[in-house]
Parts: sequence; C-alpha cells; structure tokens
Amino acid sequence: MKILIVDDEDMQRDLLKGFLKKKGYEVSSAANGQEALLTFAELPFQLVLLDHRMPDMTGDQVLAKMKAVNPLIRAIMITAYGTVDTAVEVMKLGADDFLEKPVDLSHLLDKIQMIEQRIMVDEEASDVAETLIQSDLPLRIIGDGPAMNDVLSLARRVAPTPWTVLIRGESGTGKELIARLIHLLSPVNDGPFAEVNCGAIPENLFESELFGHEKGAFTGAVSSRRGRFEVAQNGTLFLDEIGELPLNLQPKLLRALQEKRICRVGGEKEISVEVRVLAATNRDIKNLVEEGLFREDLYYRLNVFDIELPPLRQRKEDIPDLIAFFLEKYSPLPVTFEPDAMTTLIKYSFPGNIRELEHIIQRTVTLNRGRVVRAADLPPEVRFYKATAQGNLSERLEAVEQEMILSALEKSGGIQTRAAESLGISERVLRYKMKKYNIEVRGQR
Ligand SMILES: Nc1ncnc2c1ncn2[C@@H]1O[C@H](COP(=O)(O)OP(=O)(O)OP(=O)(O)O)[C@@H](O)[C@H]1O
Ligand SMILES: [Mg+2]
Repeated sequence: MKILIVDDEDMQRDLLKGFLKKKGYEVSSAANGQEALLTFAELPFQLVLLDHRMPDMTGDQVLAKMKAVNPLIRAIMITAYGTVDTAVEVMKLGADDFLEKPVDLSHLLDKIQMIEQRIMVDEEASDVAETLIQSDLPLRIIGDGPAMNDVLSLARRVAPTPWTVLIRGESGTGKELIARLIHLLSPVNDGPFAEVNCGAIPENLFESELFGHEKGAFTGAVSSRRGRFEVAQNGTLFLDEIGELPLNLQPKLLRALQEKRICRVGGEKEISVEVRVLAATNRDIKNLVEEGLFREDLYYRLNVFDIELPPLRQRKEDIPDLIAFFLEKYSPLPVTFEPDAMTTLIKYSFPGNIRELEHIIQRTVTLNRGRVVRAADLPPEVRFYKATAQGNLSERLEAVEQEMILSALEKSGGIQTRAAESLGISERVLRYKMKKYNIEVRGQR
C-alpha cells in the first residue's frame, strides 16, 4: 500500500515515515498542503495521513481537494490532543479515522491495517458491481472472462485520476481500445484524444511532431503547425509504441511531461499544456531499462499505474463472443459457425491476438459467401495449427514440415512448381505431402 504523510513538523514526519517503511509500506511525505497535493496528483496513493493543523491549509481542506481527484482515497487525520470536536467534524469531512498527538505507533498500525482490510473488501464488492454494469461501457469491448474483467475494472478505477497509465500487451491485444476507454471514462472525455506512434516518427521530425514548429523553423516548414501535445490540450495524449522511442529523444519527452510546458521548434514562447498521458507498448520496458535502451526516469514517469492486457491464448473463454461480435460486424447476413470451425479456432494460438482473429473472420466471411462456416473454410495456418511445443520428435517434425509447406505455398501464390523449388523437393513429393497433411490450395479445389 502506498501512503502519503503530510505534516509540517519535520520530526513527526520522519518518525512516521521511518516507522511505516520498516513495516513494509511505500511511503512518501510532504511538508505542507500545497506540496501534498502535487505529490498526490503524481502517484497512486491509497492512504494519506494528514496533520490537521498546518500553516497553509488545514488537513480537511487538503483532503477535500484530494477527494476531488480521487474519491476513493482513505485518510487518517492527526489532531492535537483534546480537540475531539474537530475530530468528529473531520470524520464528517470524509476521513476514515483519526489519531491524537502524540501518535501511538502501535495504534496507528492497527488503524492502517483496518483500513487495508476495508479496501480489500470494497475492491471485491466493486468487482462484482462492475461485472454487472459492463454493458454501460462507452465502447464495445468483448470479453467477460476473469482476465478481461480485471482489465476493465482497473481501467474504470484509474480513469478518473490524473495518473499516467502504461498499457502493456502483445500486438493486437486491444491496447489502443483500452486507452480510448480510459479517455472516455475520464473527466477530460469531452476533450481531444490525440495519438502519437512513437515508432513511426522519423527522428529528425520528432520534436516538430510532438511540440509543433513555427513557420521557417527548418527547410520545409512552410507554415507553423501545432504538435501532438497542443492538439491534445485539455484531453488525452496517447503515446503508442513508447518502447520504440529512440534513447536520444527520451529526455525531450521526459522534460515536456515533467514541466507540462513545451516550446515549438523555432518558437520563442513557452506553451503550457494540460494533458492526461496514456502510453502503450508491446515490449518489455523494464528489460529495456536494464539493457540501457530505455531511460529509467522516463519509465517511472510513465508507469505510475500499469495495465497488462493478457494475450488471447490466455483468455480463450472470450473467443466465442469475439467471433460472434466480428461476424456481426463483417457479414451483412446471419452466419452459422459450425462447431468444428469454432473448436479449430479455439485451439489456435493467435500470435496476432484479437486483431488476427478479426482478420480471420473478415477474410472468411468475405471469401465464403455461404451462410455456414466450416473448419475447411478457415485459413490453412489455423486449420493445420498444432502446438509445436507438444508431441514426440516425429510429431514435431511433421508440424514443422507442414508449416514450411504452407508458407512456401503462400509465398508462391499457390503455384506448386515454385513452392516445391523453394523447398528443395520435387513437385511430386510436394503433392504427396500436401495430400498427407490435407493441404488444399485456395481457388484450386
Ligand atoms: N476486447 C475487444 N473487443 C472487441 N474488439 C477488440 C477487443 N480488443 C481488441 N479489439 C479489436 O482488435 C483490433 C486490435 O486492437 P488494438 O488496435 O487496440 O490493439 P493493440 O494492442 O493496440 O495492437 P498493436 O500493438 O498492434 O498496436 C482493433 O480492431 C480492436 O477494435
Ligand atoms: Mg496499437
């Protein structure tokens, strides 16, 4: 649990911090209300210990502001001895508990543990409530298995906060969809959703793309242009493929995120930008950090909260609903999906995840104008998929052989002479093997 301690007395703050750290909590501290609110906006705290009497703002004023940012924040108010009246008032203002000075540490620990338990119970309860209202989502997101429910529940909880979210997951798992969902569930949902694909911007255009440029800033800058940060003003900036961002460009992005101010290329004035930042990646950024390919400070800046999208092969329970969803999307007429086609798809591993499933359905209903889809109508890589990691030596060799034949046929556009040549076998042997593995070339049936 992340705890924020707010107290203007250095001694008291250090004492509490040291004690709670030793008890295994992640603790940050702030010396006044202003500083507390800044730290609070940056990190996902679950509990705040607030000194009631501070010079700049009272504890309850600070708490009210924190609740506006995150209504779920728990608080323990620390009050001067004998001011029980204020304590009652304070509890009315939304603190979960209070302690009198001097703080009895074992008392404090009890109260924290009680709050921890309450958080757990509430989370379970809200999980149940969320499953029931999945249909209220502002986007169609398919999947009501436990894996997807976890993701949706995290997205719902983080959406109202100002935190940066790092969305991780293999290609095609729905990272962008979840980013759009968070935006739509956030307080800035009436603002823009601006996307930047960090992997696709040429290095020399990076600054201009993100921060914009003034007319004449460089050759080709015939007019001034707003960058993505400005486009996202008062909305959400989605940094896609953040793991692809070259190391030498990372400090520039970090600075903009930290200072919330940018300067157009060739421009003089600083423009302040108010944006919610979401980032996505299919790479293991922690690993990149260890290899020195990604800056650690930028990583921590982005990974305030993280959501991991599981690959489709780990949530196969969602496949039937996804198939139904995509059939409806791509076929003007109702289509019957035969059970063997369904089983074949469920067995497949989907290296390209949901996007691959979507393309398979799209292709199948377009090519197959009948109203019934059988296993034989599915593309060969699906029909002949065998988990290569399983089986004995000859089964594995056969699987490899099948895969090589399929890919050779695909590359040769189905022309068997060419496929045989590239495989280094005769056409007769190729035909024999195709028969053995039940491989048909599309259009030549
Ligand atoms: N749960 C879902 N329900 C319905 N459609 C989905 C779901 N998840 C993903 N999709 C669809 O699958 C496609 C791929 O999703 P998306 O573009 O969000 O993936 P991604 O993780 O950003 O992929 P990449 O890493 O390749 O950019 C999109 O057409 C999206 O609408
Ligand atoms: Mg994407």
